[in-house]
Amino acid sequence: MAVIVDGTDGDADGFVPLIQEDALGLDRIRAFTVRDWPIIVVRSAIGVRALLNRCSHAAAPLENGRIRRDTIICPLHGAQFDLSTGACRSTGSGYLPVRTFPVRIGNGIIAVQVPDGPPAVDDLPIRP
Ligand code: FES
Repeated sequence: MAVIVDGTDGDADGFVPLIQEDALGLDRIRAFTVRDWPIIVVRSAIGVRALLNRCSHAAAPLENGRIRRDTIICPLHGAQFDLSTGACRSTGSGYLPVRTFPVRIGNGIIAVQVPDGPPAVDDLPIRP
């Protein structure tokens, strides 16, 4: 279940504080809705990353996926996406990348840079 954040406490660069750093364990996924953007924040062995909470194939919520090293595995059909770039690593799938968001950690808080306005229709994959 995503935590809804209105994002009004974001800074001038658009970074919105979302979660205490020590509240996100290794290989854990937390879901947020920030300014209507569905976002997941993930900690893996490579660090903390933020991605759109929608698979680029059929829009499955990635919050129910699994972390494997530096990728997230979609819970619906198993596509693997790079946590840093969002690129699909599943051979031959041809799926588009999943959007990623910059992350900043300071004073024990994880903040994610989220666009000012809500997503447009083209920003969110839709179920086929
Ligand atoms: S919806 Fe994610 S791989 Fe199909």
